Amino acid sequence: MPAHVYVEDLHKHIGEEVTLKGWLYGKRSSGKLHFLQVRDGTGIVQCVAGKNDIGEEAFARADKLAQETSLTVDGVVREDKRSPLGVELHAKSFTVVAAPTQEYPISPKEHGNAFLMEHRHLWLRSKRQVAILRVRSEIIRAIRNYFDSRGFTLLDAPIFTPAACEGTSNLFEVNYFDAKAYLTQSGQLYGEAGAMALGKVYVFGPTFRAEKSKTRRHLTEFWMVEPEVAYLDLEGDMDLAEDFICEVVAQVVRNRRPELEILERDIAKLEQVRKPFPRIRYEEAIALLQKKGKDSKFGDDLGADEETAISEEFDRPVLIHRYPAEIKSFYMKRDPQDPKCALCVDVIAPEGYGEIIGGSQREDDLAVLEARLDEHKLPRENFEWYLDLRRYGSVPHAGFGLGIERTVAWLCGLHHVRETIPFPRLLEKITP
Ligand code: 4AD
Ligand code: MG
Repeated sequence: MPAHVYVEDLHKHIGEEVTLKGWLYGKRSSGKLHFLQVRDGTGIVQCVAGKNDIGEEAFARADKLAQETSLTVDGVVREDKRSPLGVELHAKSFTVVAAPTQEYPISPKEHGNAFLMEHRHLWLRSKRQVAILRVRSEIIRAIRNYFDSRGFTLLDAPIFTPAACEGTSNLFEVNYFDAKAYLTQSGQLYGEAGAMALGKVYVFGPTFRAEKSKTRRHLTEFWMVEPEVAYLDLEGDMDLAEDFICEVVAQVVRNRRPELEILERDIAKLEQVRKPFPRIRYEEAIALLQKKGKDSKFGDDLGADEETAISEEFDRPVLIHRYPAEIKSFYMKRDPQDPKCALCVDVIAPEGYGEIIGGSQREDDLAVLEARLDEHKLPRENFEWYLDLRRYGSVPHAGFGLGIERTVAWLCGLHHVRETIPFPRLLEKITP
């Protein structure tokens, strides 16, 4: 058998005989030729099967091949200018590995979203979904590259936690033997312990929020990457977020252009993502919204509509800093220049994709942090370990969390986060 070659590598084998291993994506015929679209996860290639090349018996069998038949095809790679890959395969023979036992439910015709979501395990095979998952994988690779090549240590935080980090209204409670535990909302507090041990760390894992609202930006289970750095202030944190986003976007554009083209993403918009990003205070954001006719006022949180309205003003991500402390988390340090505001930053993606990063400088004073826990009615005993970080060599420190799914939605140009993760978990969706 000739060597197995993946579709994405076929262009390196022009004129050679190779074996393709995959599934039948589609098929059409014209008299003496069958055109088999074969996918293998790295791409889809057209295999031309002529009666004279594969023989009469095989030609008749090819006519009956059903969508999603798994098969191998032997043939010669030929240059083809009309193909997006630049090549096609001239088949010499093919072998069916397994014919579907019944008709594949997802035909090339249009299906409704509910139907596709029920068949998510099969929907993943379609061209668009494959492209999205490959971009997602590239984003994660770029994130790891970024931190790994800059002296950060990966720190794994627990999923079972004794306490809330991001407010108590959206916690998933689980029975933990005779006690109660919560699925983590964020690895940050553990990241802070890690930063005091290792200097620069990043936590990267799944996080959980019992989001009761159905929006196109919220999942109940999502992935977050959270760098945390000792001896870093808010300005440094914003510099880090900006540099990080630029590098991740650039790597994705560099390595995943074919996938972005399949998704019909306007790549020029992603190429505009360069430093410096605009930085505005929360109060400036409110003024901007008022100018645009919204009835926003100091103290309001910025919802999806407001974020979209702000993003319309800029061609790249915008950093909004110093929100009112009272609408933000207990651990954020207040601005000594303006104590009603927190030393925090949200990064809003362009083109209406919403908040992708939330971050802050952390409160490093023991007494202030104790008071904040009380104000937020958080049980002190669950945070004693966290307070220890302020008892023993407390230092200024800061970090942020980037949501992977919203980043995938932005870079792929997807309306809803449900397509950004293989098996989305939503208010009314836990299968497949
Ligand atoms: O702004 P958030 O809640 O920040 C934190 O959790 C901090 N502890 C991070 C830190 O400083 N280490 O969440 C951070 C990001 C958001 O900007 C958003 O991208 C994403 O996580 N996110 C969600 N993504 C999908 N579905 C949800 N329900 C999300 N909630 C937050
Ligand atoms: Mg946030």
